[in-house]
Amino acid sequence: MKALILSGGSGTRLKPITHTIPKQLLPVANKPILFYVLDQVRDAGITDIGIIISPETGAHIREAVGDGSMWGCGITYILQPEPLGLAHAVKTAQDFLGDSSFLMFLGDNLIEGGVKNFVREFEKRSPDTLILLKDVPTPSLFGVAELNGKGDVVHLVEKPEEPKTNLALVGVYLFTPEIHKAISRIKPSWRGELEITDAIDQLLKAGKEVRSHILTGWWLDTGKKDDLLEANRIVLDDLLKRDVKGEIDARSKVVGRVEIREGAKVENSTVRGPASIAEGAEIRNSFIGPFTSIGACTTVEDSSVGHSVILENCRIYRIERLEDSLIGTGVELQKADERFKAVRLFVGCDSCLEL
Ligand code: TTP
Repeated sequence: MKALILSGGSGTRLKPITHTIPKQLLPVANKPILFYVLDQVRDAGITDIGIIISPETGAHIREAVGDGSMWGCGITYILQPEPLGLAHAVKTAQDFLGDSSFLMFLGDNLIEGGVKNFVREFEKRSPDTLILLKDVPTPSLFGVAELNGKGDVVHLVEKPEEPKTNLALVGVYLFTPEIHKAISRIKPSWRGELEITDAIDQLLKAGKEVRSHILTGWWLDTGKKDDLLEANRIVLDDLLKRDVKGEIDARSKVVGRVEIREGAKVENSTVRGPASIAEGAEIRNSFIGPFTSIGACTTVEDSSVGHSVILENCRIYRIERLEDSLIGTGVELQKADERFKAVRLFVGCDSCLEL
């Protein structure tokens, strides 16, 4: 069994931050989302991993992941010249995949509890495909599955205007090499992409066995700013343990599940968990509220920050309430006008804002 992780794409919905950082490397609780994906693939016992990369962001991904030794896995990088769809990515990886069955995992997705049990179920029952579904409030944004009375998948549609169910396709799939034949039979959709949904629908039409599993735990898809903040909230809430390695002075209070990494300093401030403060960050005369991640070497001074993801090397100064915000690397934020109290920001890297 191999794994194919999709880390190409264009990340349009997360611009401006994705002008400089691939979305799969955006941090959730101060760790790139792609690293959690690699953890989950490795924990499922798969060590032969292909990563789809794009010409724009490939170098960045290679530099972060390296040869895979951090996970004890072998990595093959596969360049997809253009983001022509998930099924196109599989087609591009055909040489790497050969006649192996494989786990396909979108590099910006994560599921509660990992993928080990699904890989086991696939190996034990040997269907042609195993897909994961999740009941969501807005199915028209996703690929949607239609089931018959017995609960079998009978039809799949990509982003339907009038979805027949609320069951969205989660970004984790298990395939046998049958999928390659199905992909060779599909045409690009109205948006010009080879859709994996259409390829799986082809398998259904050809009478192949497509099993499905409805997820009850969380599913994170970090395609947009608020999704990334939600992912940060859930991962901090679910996975973070109290771990204080940095320095906290006597005037500060650190309450609840808070991670303060080595070299970080907290002076005359309160940090209320769940929150993560990365290496070398400095928090001075400030309040860091729940569901916040502060990146490495970022300074927060005379400010209050909550429910936000701040990347590394930023300086946040005299901001009374920064909330629901995603701030890129190397950003400077400071107050210039007393009227600004609470702000919600989405700022690309290396910006300078006087509010
Ligand atoms: P999407 O989020 O569907 O697409 P995108 O990354 O192009 O983002 P946007 O819609 O905002 O422009 O992609 C899901 C995952 O699959 C993501 O990790 C990128 C990856 N991907 C590829 O590797 N190749 C592709 O051709 C596409 C469309 C996506």
